[in-house]
Amino acid sequence: MCGIIGYIGKREAAPLILRGLHRLEYRGYDSAGIAIVSGEKLFAVKSAGMITALEARPELKRLIGNIGIAHTRWATHGEPTEQNAHPHLDCKGEIAVVHNGIIENYMELREALQKRGHTFNSETDSEVIAHLIEESYEGVLEDAVARALKLLEGTFGLAVVHTGERKVVAVRRSSPLIIGIGQDEMFVASDVAAVVEHTSRVVHLDDDEIACIRQDGFSVMRLSGEMVEKRVDKVEMSLSQIEKKGFKHFMLKEIFEQPASITNLLRGRLKDGKITLTPNLGLARFERVIFVGCGTSWHSAIIGRYLAENLAGIRAEFEYASEFRYRKPIVTNRDLVVVISQSGETADTLGALREAKKRGARTLGIVNVVGSTISREVDGGIYLHAGPEIGVASTKAFTSQVMALLLLTLYIRQERGLENDPELIREAAAMPAKINAMLDNLDVIKNIAREFASYKNFIYLGRGINYPVALEGALKLKEISYIHAEGYPAGEMKHGPIALIDDGFPVVFIVGNDAQHEKVLGNMQEVKARKGRIIAVCSEGDTDAARVADYCITVPQTSPLLSPILNVVPLQLLAYYVADAKGLDVDRPRNLAKSVTVE
Ligand code: F6R
Repeated sequence: MCGIIGYIGKREAAPLILRGLHRLEYRGYDSAGIAIVSGEKLFAVKSAGMITALEARPELKRLIGNIGIAHTRWATHGEPTEQNAHPHLDCKGEIAVVHNGIIENYMELREALQKRGHTFNSETDSEVIAHLIEESYEGVLEDAVARALKLLEGTFGLAVVHTGERKVVAVRRSSPLIIGIGQDEMFVASDVAAVVEHTSRVVHLDDDEIACIRQDGFSVMRLSGEMVEKRVDKVEMSLSQIEKKGFKHFMLKEIFEQPASITNLLRGRLKDGKITLTPNLGLARFERVIFVGCGTSWHSAIIGRYLAENLAGIRAEFEYASEFRYRKPIVTNRDLVVVISQSGETADTLGALREAKKRGARTLGIVNVVGSTISREVDGGIYLHAGPEIGVASTKAFTSQVMALLLLTLYIRQERGLENDPELIREAAAMPAKINAMLDNLDVIKNIAREFASYKNFIYLGRGINYPVALEGALKLKEISYIHAEGYPAGEMKHGPIALIDDGFPVVFIVGNDAQHEKVLGNMQEVKARKGRIIAVCSEGDTDAARVADYCITVPQTSPLLSPILNVVPLQLLAYYVADAKGLDVDRPRNLAKSVTVE
């Protein structure tokens, strides 16, 4: 969460890093700040609110200089006020620090620093870092940072500047950080999106590495003092991928990108009825698969279990990463733990991955962001190649994750010597065209969204493989429209939630075209009998569901195992149009951030 960026070069730093900061805004957007080293002086400007509020500050004009750092915040410690915004400065105003992460022992450090005469200007955990560096400073910034770090517990991505030195020092422990290598200029940032406009050459820092970045190069050492030779990676992302291209919001653009993102996922992996995945992990030998993730990726994990049991005939479980990592999970080297994460940086998912490895399991990542921490720590992986997902609400990553899980489980099936169903393979290949067809006609969804935008509660119900789709539909609605929405297994409704149903309580049914179809119709009748208003997502030609529902959104027919991919699209659109009708900031919903790198 929080985005950080730094620059050193020949150009004016402020406009450059503010533009880059906008590309990181999805990581947090409750306050922002910038510090520029100008000659022997340091100037900082901070503001509550989004980066545009910072840009409106007249003092920005005085920020002249070629070295700078900036920050966009997702508050953890201290309210999102100007005072708590980063950068934080030391007592003398010579050192500025931007921080992404959490300093767990900040209370004791702060008390000790105050006793030694340091004055604090914020309530944040991060400010201790500036004061600790101040105490350790003996003329070489990276050495002072290294000494200060030995006292810190927690997670951090840091960028630090000092008025007396032409360099930016950057450090990483569990919070992502890359160095961008330009022509006579260098960058540091939380994510490549911030620098892609200027360079396609990046270096991914690893935990406990300290980078000293100068205009003409950089060096990296471990906290232990030993120098490290880093590999330079080529960035896959292009600038046009991170622009809205005429769409009102990134979320809408990303919903529309799903035919392309699924095509990219399938490319080279589906041929002549066979699945090709690399590297070969010897997947046939595992006795159990455990799928873990958070949020939307956890919904994919649930689908993973259905697919693994149905297609690969393998014992399967799913779990929240934040729970898995703190249990004492019994896993062995006969278990495959599949970690699912769009960003590849989610702290809980990374924690679960490390726990699984520690306990001897083999691990496989289903990740979108190339070069992310999870993608580098798993034993093997499947990249989604969905392109950057910038809207905070995950859309195209979800459908690609489901397709990746289908490929993975079909692959295990193949490895176990079982035949694949050619019809299922054909249907998988047809998904992009089927989503495209749905995106051609949005009037029904727009009308339903307009009609229901003022309701206060929704419940989403589905069974079997469409139960996680109900969870995902409810999550999308609540996170961007702030309407209370619950997802539930349809069969469980009569065990409690049915008490909520009346004519003011819309119920969204996901009606699969599968063995449980009749059961879902029965659940719809139960809602109808209590005057609940029913919105049904059902397959074309499902006249039974259409007859019971008050509103019907149809999706093309497909195999039940692929139905989540088609059924979720109208739910993404419904949430989008409801939030838009309410005039909300769809891409930056309150209290949220895209990349959750804290626990
Ligand atoms: C919801 C959403 C979140 C993420 C979750 C995990 O729309 O985006 O629930 O799915 O924070 O993120 P990743 O997949 O990056 O690990």
